[in-house]
Amino acid sequence: MFLLPAYLAIHLAFSIGSSNKTPDLLANLNHLNPPTDLKIVDKQFGEFEFFWNSNLTEDLLANYQVKYVFQSRYDDVGVWENGARLPQSQHDSTFELHRGVSIRIKNVLLSNGNVCRESNWTEKVIQSPGNPETLAAYFSCVLYNHSRMNCTWRPGSKLPIGSQYRMYYKYFGNTKECAHYFTDLQGRQGCHIDELPIPNDDPDEHVLICVNGSNNSPSISPYYVKLDTQLFEKYNPPCNVKIFPNLTVVWDKPPGYSIADHCFEYQLQLTELAGNNIESFYVQAVTKYILNINLSKRYSVKVRTKMKLCKETKYWSEWSDEVFIEPKKLFNGWVVTTVLIMIAAMMILLLSLIFRRYKDFIFRRVPDPQKNFKELFEEYNGDFQKWIGCQIPASKYEECATVVIEERTRPESQVKKYSSITKDLFTAEDYRHSTGKAVGQIS
Ligand SMILES: *[C@@H]1O[C@H](CO)[C@@H](O)[C@H](O)[C@H]1NC(C)=O
Ligand SMILES: *[C@@H]1O[C@H](CO)[C@@H](O)[C@H](O)[C@H]1NC(C)=O
Ligand SMILES: *[C@@H]1O[C@H](CO)[C@@H](O)[C@H](O)[C@H]1NC(C)=O
Ligand SMILES: *[C@@H]1O[C@H](CO)[C@@H](O)[C@H](O)[C@H]1NC(C)=O
Ligand SMILES: *[C@@H]1O[C@H](CO)[C@@H](O)[C@H](O)[C@H]1NC(C)=O
Ligand SMILES: *[C@@H]1O[C@H](CO)[C@@H](O)[C@H](O)[C@H]1NC(C)=O
Repeated sequence: MFLLPAYLAIHLAFSIGSSNKTPDLLANLNHLNPPTDLKIVDKQFGEFEFFWNSNLTEDLLANYQVKYVFQSRYDDVGVWENGARLPQSQHDSTFELHRGVSIRIKNVLLSNGNVCRESNWTEKVIQSPGNPETLAAYFSCVLYNHSRMNCTWRPGSKLPIGSQYRMYYKYFGNTKECAHYFTDLQGRQGCHIDELPIPNDDPDEHVLICVNGSNNSPSISPYYVKLDTQLFEKYNPPCNVKIFPNLTVVWDKPPGYSIADHCFEYQLQLTELAGNNIESFYVQAVTKYILNINLSKRYSVKVRTKMKLCKETKYWSEWSDEVFIEPKKLFNGWVVTTVLIMIAAMMILLLSLIFRRYKDFIFRRVPDPQKNFKELFEEYNGDFQKWIGCQIPASKYEECATVVIEERTRPESQVKKYSSITKDLFTAEDYRHSTGKAVGQIS
């Protein structure tokens, strides 16, 4: 516990002795004077330059290394920040002045790189002019499409009647007044900047903004912002969104931004269109995503982006154009239907050809011998000769046919059939001639 101070004391004595410095100089120095004559130069837009006097003797300045510690504090945070040791009694700093700022400085005496004495702080409050209730409220900006910027605010509660806000900005050393003022649908006032010079790959570029009153309303308290353009950038949407048949979605990061690929985060939104079920997926750095979906449904997919991994932007981009996934079943069904229709058409064509070719054949009567020779089979048990003897008692075939008709009073169609049978009987007659027996003689 006591080792460290003891070591430091020995080290200090040794180093002072060895560097030929008068030890009594430090020994007589009970306290170091704090800096004096603090001067503050307001460079507008919250930029300030500070000068001070160390208030240290020539002896000390000649024999010791003197440094200055500069710190600042916002009233709304309440903590002192920035403890850098400065080699010179001058410092530049930018503040959002309307938040209320205090600064403080102290002298530090070093010997061989070690602090041997410190002064008390010299402190100063930097006043923001005007009534705080006239300040622009809810101030917010969005940088979009590379070089355009909109800033909006609401009027302070105690804005003097007839007063108007004016917005000025400083970027890359150029100071301009914003030209296109508007009041939006929500009643916010705002201003649109069409062409903000694009910083080339400078990730720490800030735009300084001051919203104060017009020249005839100087009582408006100025609102100061130091805007990190990257945090307020709304990127253009990703483009070239595509879906491969293997359900891999790919896209391109928005073109024209010098941000490293790995800084981007993407949000995919998958909508099942029939049920309007929405799902979101997030991917970082890569520009593809493999979907796992029900192939029988119809979906739409869109992508948006923001910077997440390097710094986090405040806004998402707009959504990309939507791409659609058509259900696979519908696609197959379409093919099957087409094939079926083609097959059916070919069959109809084929059938009509067959029909034309065999029309006569199809409509001709097919004779049924069983019907005509019913008696032969039923009454004569298939004995042809007995049956023929009964059927043809006369030798004249024409008369025989007539007799049959009268006896059995058969309908006209049947007569025709019988006449065809009598024709068949020629064969029986032929048979008689060839065998020498008459048909009539048989019975
Ligand atoms: C330090 O400041 C005080 C008060 O301003 C002054 O009287 C004194 O002479 C200064 N000392 C030196 C060394 O500048
Ligand atoms: C430093 O501050 C303390 C407490 O405020 C005070 O007692 C002391 O005198 C100051 N020292 C100098 C050198 O101003
Ligand atoms: C973006 O800016 C380009 C050129 O500055 C312009 O052609 C384009 O229309 C703008 N797009 C949008 C969405 O404002
Ligand atoms: C910016 O303001 C202009 C003018 O009022 C408006 O047309 C544009 O849509 C705004 N853009 C964004 C991103 O807010
Ligand atoms: C408002 O601020 C701008 C930029 O700092 C300055 O040029 C202008 O004079 C200020 N206007 C008033 C009324 O203070
Ligand atoms: C999906 O298909 C694309 C294009 O055919 C191919 O580049 C990609 O590697 C495939 N992805 C997977 C996971 O198969």
